[in-house]
Amino acid sequence: MRYLPIDPALFIRNRAAFAGAMKPRSVAVFNSNDVAPKSADGVRRFIQQTDTFYLSGIDQEETILLLCPDAPDEKHREILFIRETSDQIATWEGPKHSRDEAREISGIRTVYWTSRFESVFRGLVLASEHIYLNTNEHLRADVTVETRDARFLKWCRDAYPLHRYERSAPILHRLRAMKSGTETALIQTACDITEKAFRRILGFIRPGIWEFEIEAEICHEFLRRRSRGPAYEPIVASGPNACILHYVKNDRQCADGELVLMDFGAEYANYAADLTRTIPVNGRFTPRQRAVYDAVLRVQRAAIPMLRPGNTLKAYHEAVGTLMEGELIRLGLLDAEAVRQQDKAAPLYRTYFMHGTSHHLGLDVHDLGHADRPFEPGMVFTCEPGIYIREEGIGIRIENDVLIRDQETVDLMRSVPVEADEIEALMAG
Ligand code: GLY
Ligand code: MN
Ligand code: MN
Repeated sequence: MRYLPIDPALFIRNRAAFAGAMKPRSVAVFNSNDVAPKSADGVRRFIQQTDTFYLSGIDQEETILLLCPDAPDEKHREILFIRETSDQIATWEGPKHSRDEAREISGIRTVYWTSRFESVFRGLVLASEHIYLNTNEHLRADVTVETRDARFLKWCRDAYPLHRYERSAPILHRLRAMKSGTETALIQTACDITEKAFRRILGFIRPGIWEFEIEAEICHEFLRRRSRGPAYEPIVASGPNACILHYVKNDRQCADGELVLMDFGAEYANYAADLTRTIPVNGRFTPRQRAVYDAVLRVQRAAIPMLRPGNTLKAYHEAVGTLMEGELIRLGLLDAEAVRQQDKAAPLYRTYFMHGTSHHLGLDVHDLGHADRPFEPGMVFTCEPGIYIREEGIGIRIENDVLIRDQETVDLMRSVPVEADEIEALMAG
């Protein structure tokens, strides 16, 4: 792996927490992602299923994790199944984990080749009442493409129709919302790599540059710092493109006098950073751009401390909406009286700020967590207000990642330049 070894204590604790949430006499199974196909014989680079990584630390295809906390034979309480290698695999793909290596990475004592899965599983299932299986319960998940977990679920229900099936996802949504010190350190590393990329492009952007040239600089910096690459498709959106929220074509030339909105984050050890900065292509904000920029920054500055223990996403979003209304009225975009009369279910600020302000961040960019759970110390969120004025060709978003602690909210991107003056100075330098 490119990333430095992770203390297996992380995965040991994660498994213990999951096992602690299982009903008595249960087994749980977690599969890897598939190696996703392209066309013909092409495949995409393997990316581990994040729950499987969270519980095992194993970054290799065809891995299966089995938990059976009440197994009478102690060595079967946690079993890792990994792909058996061969001379041919070694020749074409290179080395795969040995069982010892997998033991060291995961902290799991019992490591078998995957070919043993069905028989070992059968013994444990027949002595159990419940089977925990993993489905993608992310609110906005697209489940059209069948995963290994989904295929396994079908096979399992067919093979063991009279067992009681349980959902692993709610447990994982609860556990993964809370980040341990090891995890926040990994997210911090992803944020630091992302910062390096931002500083690199500050000296690079000028009128005439193409969006994809900026993307290339970002990826270059990520790759040379032990990142696999971007944690999600980078958005490099100049001028009017900044008002397209999921713009990823990055194929336009940046013009003098425009802004360029860049939403990008490095992956590190499977953890994500998620940064947005919006800067003037020629290095100087126009007065109007500056006014809108400062409005977004004021909202972000006021919003970050509201990510505090006990607050809820719903109350937080309402409060941010109110802040945004004030700014939009000051910018002449909304009418104060119209705002007073507005339908609370369809607030007017949504015309200019049409996305959420925060989401969990971790192994997934839009990480797992229950929307109605009050904020707690240990949660990591983004804070990403934006104002998008299509009629003026201005789209500005500013996004930082923060960690909620007992007494304070720590900005993991506090050293990433954000003040308009600082950005102008760095671009001039
Ligand atoms: N980069 C995706 C997001 O900001 O949520
Ligand atoms: Mn983002
Ligand atoms: Mn985000």
